[in-house]
Amino acid sequence: MNLLVAAGAPQEAAVDTLVLLVPSFEEITHKTLQALDAATDGTLTSLYDIEEFRGKEGESVALFRPSGFVARRVICLGLGAAKEINADSFRRAMGRASRMKAIRSVETAAVYLEKPYVDSANAGAIAEGYLLGSFKMLNYKTGEENVADLKLQSLTILTDQKQSVKKLQGAAERGRVIAEGQILARRLSATPANDLTPKKYAEEARRLAKEFGFECKVLDEKAIAKEKMGGLLAVSQGSAEPPRFLVLEHKGRSDKQKPIVLVGKGVTFDAGGISLKPAANMHEMKQDMTGSAVVVATIATAARLGIARNIVGLIPMTENLPSGTAVKPGDIITMRKGKTVEIINTDAEGRLILADALDYANNFEPQAVIDIATLTGACLFILGYAGAPIVGNNANLMNLIRGASDSTAERVWEMPLWDDFRDAMKSDIADLQNSGGRPAGTLTASAFLENFIGDWPWAHIDIAYMDLEPKGTAYTPKGASGFGVRLLTELLSNWKKV
Ligand code: BES
Ligand code: MN
Ligand code: ZN
Repeated sequence: MNLLVAAGAPQEAAVDTLVLLVPSFEEITHKTLQALDAATDGTLTSLYDIEEFRGKEGESVALFRPSGFVARRVICLGLGAAKEINADSFRRAMGRASRMKAIRSVETAAVYLEKPYVDSANAGAIAEGYLLGSFKMLNYKTGEENVADLKLQSLTILTDQKQSVKKLQGAAERGRVIAEGQILARRLSATPANDLTPKKYAEEARRLAKEFGFECKVLDEKAIAKEKMGGLLAVSQGSAEPPRFLVLEHKGRSDKQKPIVLVGKGVTFDAGGISLKPAANMHEMKQDMTGSAVVVATIATAARLGIARNIVGLIPMTENLPSGTAVKPGDIITMRKGKTVEIINTDAEGRLILADALDYANNFEPQAVIDIATLTGACLFILGYAGAPIVGNNANLMNLIRGASDSTAERVWEMPLWDDFRDAMKSDIADLQNSGGRPAGTLTASAFLENFIGDWPWAHIDIAYMDLEPKGTAYTPKGASGFGVRLLTELLSNWKKV
């Protein structure tokens, strides 16, 4: 699809469908709406009177061949109250628009962006909203194509500000790349575990590295054993599929710049191991590698955008299955760092593999490390499907993440790391235990990870449940969300020394 930006009047747009984004109104004072109202015999006035269209968020009107407009159809979409409009309002409106017949069934569309909304963030959000909203989940149905059946050949952002065209073009293009990154994360995340074993996943990452221009080194089970990654080895020992450990690198700067390291949980299927999960919803655990998918996609996106930072991605990949060779509750393992861990619950596997990866990060003398993982079910009782709890040890890093969260509308909220949670992870007979029980499960897991970090700023993002949109929202169709790609890409784009 061509993503274009042009200056011009909405009446002149020679497209199949023109989209007008309209803030809530109490009177038709908007010039284009007045023209449209006049061209349609007062249709908009009537719709206003019967409260069908007042520019509220989610409202829409489709008009066919209004006179005075070159476009064959004009659709008006409500943006909601003017004082609450931000970039995400545009993302949401375009997400909804992307699934409307008047967009889906045509070849060319334009969306009018006018004062006071002409800025890069909104142009980027328009591109993101359209692409993210029209994303079609993987399709394994026989005889059906596994691609989105999008007809749209071009989407033009039309503006009344001629001098802004170039800036908007760059922003729209950036939005496209970011949305494609998020879609890549969604696809990886949704791929069934039989099609995405650690081995296959590593091969796919290698392919992506070639396609998008970043480096990808794969440690196989022998190299992992040589590294003494006791956590990763323990989790993987119950499966016939061998583990992998990926080192991804985007070199955006000279070798001297210390890298920002991203760590992503790559459990390609989590049955819980001997501490087996209940059968209900266990199939969703094919997505227990979403943290890693977000890291792969973010590094691919950083490479495509040419972000001028050195970025490293560390990804432990394994299945967590019960079997005769599986790690057992009560077993004591030795981690890469040398610390001993008593396994209380084999379903608390994510922290074991992340711990080894966090320790491995020391090799890079990182300026900061951020891990992202579908780590604890307890997230459901903290922020539910509305946002991701985060913890960290550096106020500047937390502020940077909060800033990126605010501008991308991928919501995170900081939780405390108190000694109570650290105490819960102490074992009677080993250095640590891997489960602190049910209370504050998200934070005891974080406290466990903290034992494995080096002397650097660290943040942990728990995306359990955020990885999976349960119903479908404006630009996140039901299923894998790819949550985190916009957040991390924004964070890296606006990075400041912490
Ligand atoms: N992958 C799960 C966490 C999870 C649960 C993510 C539900 C998304 C939805 C993780 O490995 C896990 O099983 N955690 C346990 C830890 C507990 C045994 C200490 C949990 O949260 O119940
Ligand atoms: Mn688990
Ligand atoms: Zn898990």
